[in-house]
Amino acid sequence: MITDTWNAVDDYFSRGLVKSDTALDAALEASTKAGLRAINVAPNQGKFLNLLAKIHGARRILELGTLGGYSAIWLARALPEDGSMISLEANPDNADVARKNIAAAGLANKVSVITGLAAESLEQMIQSKTPPFDFIFLDADKSSYPEYLRLTLRLSRPGTVIVADNVVRDGKLVDPQNNEPDVLGVREFFHMLTAMPGTESTAVQTVGSKGYDGFSITIVSAPPTDVGS
Ligand code: SAH
Ligand code: DHB
Ligand code: MG
Repeated sequence: MITDTWNAVDDYFSRGLVKSDTALDAALEASTKAGLRAINVAPNQGKFLNLLAKIHGARRILELGTLGGYSAIWLARALPEDGSMISLEANPDNADVARKNIAAAGLANKVSVITGLAAESLEQMIQSKTPPFDFIFLDADKSSYPEYLRLTLRLSRPGTVIVADNVVRDGKLVDPQNNEPDVLGVREFFHMLTAMPGTESTAVQTVGSKGYDGFSITIVSAPPTDVGS
């Protein structure tokens, strides 16, 4: 019953504030046709990420977990003309769908989808001294969020913003009986952030067409220098 209301409110926002367009609609349609799960961010969440990246003036964006490229399209649209985005995806079929959707949205010149385990791609970027990113969106496997935090901090500069999706999971976060790997990963992620100097964080719960979940947001003032590898 309550979820009907959440859906109705999301629909209301999507009809008004968050107008979709053919590229975004086509990306979701192509993703469904290719058999991808509909675990992309909701339209109003996609636009929320887009506005955060714009507010921050992000010129270099990193995403972990591309799926069909829906959130990547929202984020890449926040970039200036000379901006760029890298999105990491383990599943080569998903990456193919995403590259096509991103190209159809006219963003192929800005977005590179890298196929492979996110942790391995991140290690490679660290080794090759890839310049730091301004805005980082964590949305791959939640069990690895602690590792992703350690690695992405090494690709951060003072001022980098890190947003993590799906940090509430129907409240499983605080259910002491729940020890699923995803939930343990998110708990450890928060534990790390709580004790981490040189960062400031908060998290917000969300409800809507994608259920009950939430985002965390972190601003890195001083990337740790002693995080090891
Ligand atoms: N950001 C997307 C949704 C991502 S869903 C959107 O909102 O539109 C999570 C994605 O992470 C899936 O496509 C899954 O294949 C990918 N993934 C899971 N484990 C991964 C890993 N170890 N490395 C990289 N990608 C991974
Ligand atoms: C799942 C992953 C997501 O990124 C998400 O937004 C929702 C669900 C999942 O793996 O179930
Ligand atoms: Mg997600």
